Amino acid sequence: MEKLVIHGGRPLHGEVKISGAKNAALPLMAATLLTPGKHRLRNVPNLRDTRTFIRLLEYLGVKSERVGDTLSLDTTNLSSAEAPYDLVKTMRASVLVLGPLVARLGQARVSLPGGCAIGARPIDFHIMGLERLGATCHLEGGYVDLKCERALRGEVIYFDIPTVTGTENLLMAASLAEGTTVLKNAAKEPEIGNLVDMLTGMGAKIEGRGTDSLIIHGVKHLQPADCEVIPDRIEAGTYLLAIVATGGSGSVSHCRPDHLPSLLEKLRLAGVNVTETRDTITVGWNETGEGGKQLKGVNIKTMPYPGYPTDLQAQFMALMTQCSGSCVVNETIFENRFMHVAELHRMGANIKIDGHSARVEGLGMGGLKGAPVMATDLRASSSLVIAGLSASGRTDISRIYHLERGYENLVDKLTKLGAKVWKEDEQ
Ligand code: EPU
Repeated sequence: MEKLVIHGGRPLHGEVKISGAKNAALPLMAATLLTPGKHRLRNVPNLRDTRTFIRLLEYLGVKSERVGDTLSLDTTNLSSAEAPYDLVKTMRASVLVLGPLVARLGQARVSLPGGCAIGARPIDFHIMGLERLGATCHLEGGYVDLKCERALRGEVIYFDIPTVTGTENLLMAASLAEGTTVLKNAAKEPEIGNLVDMLTGMGAKIEGRGTDSLIIHGVKHLQPADCEVIPDRIEAGTYLLAIVATGGSGSVSHCRPDHLPSLLEKLRLAGVNVTETRDTITVGWNETGEGGKQLKGVNIKTMPYPGYPTDLQAQFMALMTQCSGSCVVNETIFENRFMHVAELHRMGANIKIDGHSARVEGLGMGGLKGAPVMATDLRASSSLVIAGLSASGRTDISRIYHLERGYENLVDKLTKLGAKVWKEDEQ
């Protein structure tokens, strides 16, 4: 196993190019299962999670070829309708094959994902929705078994809570159902817009893109896709927060500033100078007086898009450990997403958890001190990277396989920004 070693306290400067979004690439890859043929996806990030998803598709009979960031998937012959436990347990997003498999083959068998580091994360909304479309569901031996003797039939489906992958599963399944499906209180994340664009390009009839009410008029056949994955807004946000946390200045390019409205607003409220072009965001500091660079404490509350993203909560908290004053971080999406707090304590942070809220008493810029810490999940790990980059001294982050699930070429990108960071074998 490898660990990440960071010698912190060096301001980051320069420009970093953002990769394709993990959480957009995975549903697009799943959507290729809907129809036989040769599909082409561009700007696909090379990550542990996308590689795991390719393994899952290959298990189902798909042939894959990657050239650079272009992924070709030949879904002509499917040999299985089962997502086995070994793959699902390492990546919950495997449940995204449920909708397309049941729509195309009339059956799907997917291992229940079980709990994960950030919470229980059930898939009851996915199953409820597919049952409403006419599938029958049995739970046996830890597997969800869905069957549909005849074509799925359009229905009105209401989600109690907007669910990202649940909305994606139902969008895919409803595209091939008979009649019209309406998804109410659907999730509105940009990754869903990317999937709607891909499905529309394949011949699906979908209204309401970008809203919480999606209307899908089912079609009999879809064509193979040629689609580009949108830039990763969470990766972009993570680098912006890292640059600011080190007191540096720089840009993220090849991104979509309009996909990060809440983060950019929060950074401005904290006193950061933020400028945007169509595909670049630059952060820096206003002229500082005698007090030097100072960050104001800013509260955040995670919400479905366009609210503040839960996937950038831990990273924002790492930044806020250095504010002057204090702030409150409220997590409303997942019940166990404060795993980074105990690790940040090891670096000197002053944070108190009270239920779903954490109160951060800022230490001022450069207040953290390097320490050995442990990565627990993907986004918690990236908050430790931000903390390590801004802390004085050395930070060793163990279990970095979590980071490799979602950040392409992390060490290279940080090195290009001037960070002193490398991977080492753990003893
Ligand atoms: N929920 C249910 N039942 C369901 C589905 C969801 O109760 O059937 C609850 C969840 O437990 C949670 C809330 O609804 O409290 C929202 O969860 P959602 O379904 O939207 O999450 P997800 O689709 O499983 C995706 C991302 C996550 C991201 C969340 C929230 C992918 C592959 N994953 O998960 O990404 O945190 O949406 O935005 O798109 C990450 O990249 O690190 C990550 C965890």
